[in-house]
Amino acid sequence: MKRLKKGVLVVKITEDLFSLFINKKGESLMKAICFSVHDFEKVYLETWAKNLSLEIDFLTVGLTGETVDLARGYDAVICWANDNLSGASLKHLHKNGVKMVSLRSAGFSHLDFEVAKELGLVVGRVPSYSPEAIAEHTFGLLMCLNRHYPRAFQRIKDFNFTLEGLEGVTLKGKTVGVVGAGLIGAAFARIMKGVGCQILLHDPNEDQELARELGASYMGLEELLRQSDIVSLHCPLNYKTRYILNKETISLMKDGVFLLNTGRGALIDTDALIANLKTNKFRGVGLDVYEYEEGVFFKDHSDLGLSDEKLLRLMSFPRVLITSHQAFFTEEALENIAKDSLQNVKDFFEGQELPEGHKVL
Ligand code: NAI
Repeated sequence: MKRLKKGVLVVKITEDLFSLFINKKGESLMKAICFSVHDFEKVYLETWAKNLSLEIDFLTVGLTGETVDLARGYDAVICWANDNLSGASLKHLHKNGVKMVSLRSAGFSHLDFEVAKELGLVVGRVPSYSPEAIAEHTFGLLMCLNRHYPRAFQRIKDFNFTLEGLEGVTLKGKTVGVVGAGLIGAAFARIMKGVGCQILLHDPNEDQELARELGASYMGLEELLRQSDIVSLHCPLNYKTRYILNKETISLMKDGVFLLNTGRGALIDTDALIANLKTNKFRGVGLDVYEYEEGVFFKDHSDLGLSDEKLLRLMSFPRVLITSHQAFFTEEALENIAKDSLQNVKDFFEGQELPEGHKVL
């Protein structure tokens, strides 16, 4: 009898605890706050919050030292690639009751992994939202650099129909070095193969099936840099790949090489890049990411201008083309980012493990 009573008591406590998280209709009572919501993604996020019956407050402000207290009382934060997820920020979030961080990005180099682990935070990401979108943008950068489309458009607007200075090279037959042959690198390599280029790959995890498909060979970074007419960076940023292109490695590259970076800014040492641009090392440099882009990209500075001297210097070179981290920016990618980042929150709220690939921690 006593035992039965004990049993009943246990069940009751469990139910009471359960009711803190789930209402009578079986819906989660946990709630999330979403930082850095841009106008362009709002409709996708709101639709998926509704589809998944999630209670989410959407904020346009980013997660910073000043805004971190806005997360007080929320169970999960949903973050953009430029939100502050440093150790200090994560500790503050944890103190405010946050138990989960859902990233609206694939990369997580902006998150202090060790601190998140120490705090026992669950961290989710969107592993792949549209690798082709990024690969196509990379190809677009290359075409703009090689055939001088921005300059040509400007000329036509000025009623100048001359061709001087617009000369490019035929890409067919050129050698393309892909650094990081994961989802995006492979998609870019397929495009360049279609154009008739020879593909070289550098990746610590070799995929021989991909190499066969592309008729490509894997090789060390140095050899790839020596042989390539076009080098494109698609590896993640981590302590091993930070400044993978630096003074020494850039010196190995062919003169007149095209360099493309749609990976992460700090894959390239910006000072070394500028020094080599001064000596006309490159035929063209296409950057969708920049080492110090945080606080600059995704914002309108047309009123006050820029104070970042290095970015201004990069912009001053006619052979450099910069876009503001927009390679991912397609309707399909926005839909997938909203769906998967919110599904990760839903899984967490329902006590489920995040699926393989989505789970950072
Ligand atoms: P992925 O994980 O499919 O591929 C990354 C590849 O890099 C893997 O095959 C990995 O083995 C390789 N890798 C790791 N360390 C390396 C090293 N030291 N040298 C060469 N390769 C190395 O990732 P995915 O989806 O292809 O994304 C790649 C990167 O693209 C992301 O980490 C992110 O930084 C960037 N990205 C940029 C976007 C943009 O809008 N500009 C959007 C999405 C991702």
